[in-house]
Amino acid sequence: MSAHLDAYWMPFTPNRAFKADPRMVVRAEGMNYFTGDGRAVLDATAGLWCVACGHGAPRIVEAIRKAAGDLDYATNFNLGHPLAFEFAERLGAFLPAGMDRVFFTNSGSESADTALKIARAYWFARGKPKKTLLIGRERGYHGVNFGGLSVGGIAPNKTAFGPLLADVAHLPHTHDIARNAFSRGQPAHGAEFADALEAIVAEHGADKIAAVMVEPVAGSTGVLVPPQNYLQKLRALCDKHDILLIFDEVITGFGRLGANFAADFFGVKPDLLTMAKAITNAAVPMGAVACAREIYDAILGASDTPIELFHGYTTSGHPLACAAGLATLDTFHDERLVERAADLAPYWEEAMHSLRDAPHVIDIRNLGLIGGIELEPRDGTPTKRALDAFKLCFDKGVLIRVTGDIIAFSPPLIIEKTQIDQIVDTVRGALGQID
Ligand SMILES: Cc1ncc(COP(=O)(O)O)c(C=O)c1O
Repeated sequence: MSAHLDAYWMPFTPNRAFKADPRMVVRAEGMNYFTGDGRAVLDATAGLWCVACGHGAPRIVEAIRKAAGDLDYATNFNLGHPLAFEFAERLGAFLPAGMDRVFFTNSGSESADTALKIARAYWFARGKPKKTLLIGRERGYHGVNFGGLSVGGIAPNKTAFGPLLADVAHLPHTHDIARNAFSRGQPAHGAEFADALEAIVAEHGADKIAAVMVEPVAGSTGVLVPPQNYLQKLRALCDKHDILLIFDEVITGFGRLGANFAADFFGVKPDLLTMAKAITNAAVPMGAVACAREIYDAILGASDTPIELFHGYTTSGHPLACAAGLATLDTFHDERLVERAADLAPYWEEAMHSLRDAPHVIDIRNLGLIGGIELEPRDGTPTKRALDAFKLCFDKGVLIRVTGDIIAFSPPLIIEKTQIDQIVDTVRGALGQID
């Protein structure tokens, strides 16, 4: 292990293994990363689901440069700067209608915890302070802070950290290979998984439940596309029982499905919607929570203290992030990236499913410009096969992402068809080489 790598404690990384055999990139442009020796690596994951406009998008780079020179920082506690107001307004116009009240954070994890707190604060404002139970879903990922971690449904993420939030319950996940393997787009079976909400309501009482939080498409646990009519059912059940619905759109927002947000794509409107990642093309860390006007109005209207929501971050609405966010929206508009993703989706679907006969593949899933390829785990060493594929692909010039034994793809929306072919050819080659 190189001693000079020791100081940096890397996130969600097997530090010992990585430092024994590191992979480094030093530059990025468009669809590619570049290693220190100048080798291009095609980015099939848009960084980490976030570089939607491609790397080094010129308008975004320039906007950050300018903002840094004009106003390096201003607190947003009781002081304003124009970029934050402008970005919130522009974002409001990009969001589903009526969800145009925006709270800025610095990450997806902070957005998740902020949304959960706003949900509880809403019921408090409405005179129902006992509505506090937060419902997530098995295999859900809402970041790593205590709220999102508790509501999320990934056991290993929780193991070492002691008691989490107490009043939390979980819906079952919707992954059902037995009935839905190799579905193209939304699987046909599984809308009834939403009915589990009725059982939770029966157990706890709707008067105790604040919100249901789900990812419209679960990304981090391996691209779980919602069954047809599942999200619609969830919305109807939340309405029936007066429960808020929160969509965690940290990966599905900003064109990933060929619509501005998954809420638009599925035609299901949540009450709160979390964002991060592509909001600034990840060029500056930022997250946000979009709130239905009713929620904002209720909390502001009912407050008997001057500050209506005791919540916020030192760098909420940071000028560099807002500048990057505005330039991201401009880039989306000028390059018609949402339409581009929608146009490319059928080609992407064909390409993903062409790997059906590749070795080890037991399921393929896709929606918009998202793809998931599930591999048969090796006996006794789950996750190892996918990790081997990841390393081989990197050596062959393509960056993929693996989670468990699933390969997840989420390329920048600027991808060309020839690059989709390159991804598929490289993955097929790698799968053929590993045992
Ligand atoms: C759906 C979802 N929510 C929240 C997060 C956490 O975001 P961050 O890593 O920016 O805290 C992620 C990250 O992958 C995510 O996919």
